[in-house]
Amino acid sequence: MTKIVFENVHKKFHNNFRVLNGVSLKVADKEVHVILGRSGCGKSVLLKCLLGILQVDSGDILVDGLSVKKKEQHRDYIRKFSILFQGNALFDSMTIRGNVEFGLQQINRNKSECRSIAEEKLLAVGLDRRIFDLYPAEISGGMQKRAALARAIAIEPEVLLFDEPTSGLDPITSGVICHLLRDTVTKLQITCLTITHDLKVAEFLSDHSSILNDGAIIWTGKTKEMKRCGDEFVENFYRASHSILEVSA
Ligand SMILES: Nc1ncnc2c1ncn2[C@@H]1O[C@H](COP(=O)(O)OP(=O)(O)OP(=O)(O)O)[C@@H](O)[C@H]1O
Ligand SMILES: [Mg+2]
Repeated sequence: MTKIVFENVHKKFHNNFRVLNGVSLKVADKEVHVILGRSGCGKSVLLKCLLGILQVDSGDILVDGLSVKKKEQHRDYIRKFSILFQGNALFDSMTIRGNVEFGLQQINRNKSECRSIAEEKLLAVGLDRRIFDLYPAEISGGMQKRAALARAIAIEPEVLLFDEPTSGLDPITSGVICHLLRDTVTKLQITCLTITHDLKVAEFLSDHSSILNDGAIIWTGKTKEMKRCGDEFVENFYRASHSILEVSA
C-alpha cells in the first residue's frame, strides 16, 4: 500500500529559481526510504512542502489520500508526522523531560499520562533518569539527539521524518545514533523518510533510496543497486560518497 505520494511537485521562490521542478515519488507504507542529493538541491524545501510549511506552486502531496493542500484535512494530515530536525530543535528553556511532555500535551494527553509516556520513551532511547531534569545545553549532542528522538516517537506518528540525522555529530556518535534510529524504526514498524546528503547513512538506514537532482527525482530503487544503476550522475554520486577526493564536482 502506498503511504506518501509526491505528485509532480513544483516550487520556486521569488527570484524565480525553480527548486523543485516536477518531483514525483511514491513511498510505500512501512517503507524506510532515503532521499539523497547534493547540498542545495532542495531536500529541505521538499520536506517543508511535505509538512505544509512551504506551499507547493503546483502538483500535490498526499498521505493516505489526504492532501497537503486541503485546509479542512490539515489537522488529520499533520498528525501523521513526527520529525527529527537537523538541529534537534529542543526547547532550551525546558528540561529534557519537559520537551517530551510538551509534545504530548499538544495532542491532549493528560498530565500523568504525559509524564509516564515521556519517561518510558526517554528510557527507550537509552537516556538515564539522571538527565531527565537537565536542560538541553547541559547534555551532549548525542544525548540531545536521543531526547529529540524520544519526543518524536512519543506522539506515535505514522510517518517519521529524519532531516540529516547525523550532521554535527562525531563519527562514533553518528554510528551509535544510526543504530538507534534503525532499531527504533524496525521496532515501531512505521514509514520512515530521511533526507540526507550522506550515502553511508542511507546505506545503513534504508532499503530504498531516491536521488534528487535538478529539481526532480532522477532515480529510485534499492539502495544497494545504486552503485551500478546505469545513470551517470547517480553512479558519480555513489563513487564520490565513497571516495571524496577522487571525483571532481
Ligand atoms: N525561503 C527561501 N527563499 C529563497 N530561496 C530558498 C528558500 N529556501 C530555500 N531556498 C533555495 O532553495 C535551494 C534548495 O535549498 P535546500 O535548503 O532545500 O537545500 P538542501 O538540499 O536541503 O541543502 P543542504 O544539503 O545543504 O541542507 C537553495 O538554493 C536555497 O537557496
Ligand atoms: Mg537541507
